[in-house]
Amino acid sequence: MQPGEAVEFATWRPVSGVIAAWAPIARLATVPPMGDWDERYTASADGLWSGRVNGTLAVELDGNVPGSALDVGCGEGADAIWLAGNGWEVTGLDVSQVALDRAAAGAREVGVNVVWICADLAGAPLAPGGYDLVSVQYPALKHSPGDKAVHVLLDAVAPGGRLLLVSHAPQNPEYARAHGFEVTDYVQPEDVRDRLDERWDIEVDETRPRADPVPDGSPFTHDAVLRARRRN
Ligand SMILES: C[S@@+](CC[C@H](N)C(=O)[O-])C[C@H]1O[C@@H](n2cnc3c(N)ncnc32)[C@H](O)[C@@H]1O
Repeated sequence: MQPGEAVEFATWRPVSGVIAAWAPIARLATVPPMGDWDERYTASADGLWSGRVNGTLAVELDGNVPGSALDVGCGEGADAIWLAGNGWEVTGLDVSQVALDRAAAGAREVGVNVVWICADLAGAPLAPGGYDLVSVQYPALKHSPGDKAVHVLLDAVAPGGRLLLVSHAPQNPEYARAHGFEVTDYVQPEDVRDRLDERWDIEVDETRPRADPVPDGSPFTHDAVLRARRRN
């Protein structure tokens, strides 16, 4: 499958009930530093993440009526699969084909239908205003000229729909450097918040303790949660 190509897997078979929420825990010590994501996923043959939905996503969507959802940087697909299992019509987008292959296998295993797109968000073939929910969980989006990725992200939200951005907090430049990257090279919550103009209502903008257990030694004890609704 080539970047930008979308493939639909399996037939729609909803999973009843809510799939349990738990933390995605990266086995960071065993994978290469940030950079090539296919390389990172390949180096972690057993999976880079826990395979469980992000707790903050589950908390934020509690009581929401399902609609269409885009999971940006969906990785190995735990959130996308959880959303599909809870009645959402889901598209999972990631730059890593290795991650998406695992995601697709996971969706097949539990019998949910997700559309997977392998693409860099900045150049992704997304319909503007196409999604009732655009979810970005722990993004690792590099700045690009004009921050195209942020524009694509915001444009993807349908009128009346929501953007949910969850990031690690606090930022930890020293930890980042020790893992081979600079925090400032990546899109931060404030880069997104600064672009929310009069067409948006900010519903949540706060830092709170993680909903999931924090792995021993992890500096990421809190989540920065930004939830905004696009007006009609
Ligand atoms: C820190 S991981 C988070 C994965 C998942 N959301 C989770 O919470 O487990 C960031 C993900 O974003 C993807 N990614 C990085 N840059 C991207 C880009 N420009 N466009 C799309 N996906 C990207 C990576 O491949 C990776 O799967």
